[in-house]
Amino acid sequence: MSKPTLESMHRSTVHALSPQANLEERARQAFVLHVKRGLGPLGGRGLQQICAHHNAEAPEHVASVLQNSSAYAAWTALSKGSQRQMWRALSDMIHRQEETLQDVARDLETRPPLGSLHLDPDFEIPAYLQQTAFHGQPGGYVLTRHPDDLYAGLMQEAGGTLYTRGAGTGVKDSKVQAVVRFIRDRFPGFAPVRILDMGCGYGAQTCGYALTFAPAETHGADVGGAVLRFGHLRAESLSIALHLHQMDAAATSFPDGYFDLIVSNIVLHEVPAAHLQALMHECCRLLAPGGLVLHQDMPVQRPGVSAVRHFLSMWQRDHNDEPHWDSIAPSVFRICSALPDLLPAAFLKTTWHK
Ligand SMILES: C[S@@+](CC[C@H](N)C(=O)[O-])C[C@H]1O[C@@H](n2cnc3c(N)ncnc32)[C@H](O)[C@@H]1O
Repeated sequence: MSKPTLESMHRSTVHALSPQANLEERARQAFVLHVKRGLGPLGGRGLQQICAHHNAEAPEHVASVLQNSSAYAAWTALSKGSQRQMWRALSDMIHRQEETLQDVARDLETRPPLGSLHLDPDFEIPAYLQQTAFHGQPGGYVLTRHPDDLYAGLMQEAGGTLYTRGAGTGVKDSKVQAVVRFIRDRFPGFAPVRILDMGCGYGAQTCGYALTFAPAETHGADVGGAVLRFGHLRAESLSIALHLHQMDAAATSFPDGYFDLIVSNIVLHEVPAAHLQALMHECCRLLAPGGLVLHQDMPVQRPGVSAVRHFLSMWQRDHNDEPHWDSIAPSVFRICSALPDLLPAAFLKTTWHK
């Protein structure tokens, strides 16, 4: 498999461990995709028109109108149902090929590694990750059924790919492409030597940082053993050197000032407020002078967003296993106020410079 570039690394990067959908699996996934594509405009325009018809603008009025509307009941049932069907369809596809994929994994393991994988058998998974199967992923991020397991990583990649295509974002910049563009615009010439991707998951974005800032030493920290094992072998199959660690990003074992670029992609909205505070302190501890910390996340609490859009966004918290969805903005503000060296205003634009 040839080494990709940042530009060629889109959300559907094919690699040696990519499962292949057969005809029936493709049809099931296409069905989910089209339901999800249809739900976007229905939520965006249709439900807004219902609120406009009732002159509902205040949050309480919007909530009462939508909760009494059969269109909202149908939208929420279809949204929940399509999410469940998405996971079932992907899980069936992956289960069917697990043996074959394990053979590929074993073959990759016989090659001289470019990067490294550090799993910790004594690692204590933070409770919030054990208790929640975020956005309904079966078994959650931390499911590890046996030492060679890949399932949670395969599911994280397949789910992310289908979900973003359904939401209409799958053809736009990947998360890492957007962050790299931001860094190049705001900090031209920035050339980190050591990078940490907090909550790296299966390492798709981490690969992008490694490619962009080569020869920087690129590390990723996550909690799930199977996710990391899959991420390690996936990166090896793409000829990208990543150093992946099973660690809590809020309490790593790296030395002080070890990294000059610390990033995360869509992690903070899944972290409870108290843990988020510890994670921010860890960023301060790990950041080298002149370094950059950049956390990218959902526009959960955009200023000026309408009450209808906010209500629909909170659907994620109430019906899609995202219990910390709406705590990022106030938490981050409180954390910034509590950390003397940080500039809250700059941080709220997702970045600060030390
Ligand atoms: C939505 S996924 C995003 C994965 C990856 N950043 C990406 O964009 O493809 C969130 C990831 O954050 C990880 N995570 C959440 N809390 C964490 C923590 N305290 N320490 C390390 N990883 C964490 C989860 O295990 C999960 O893999």
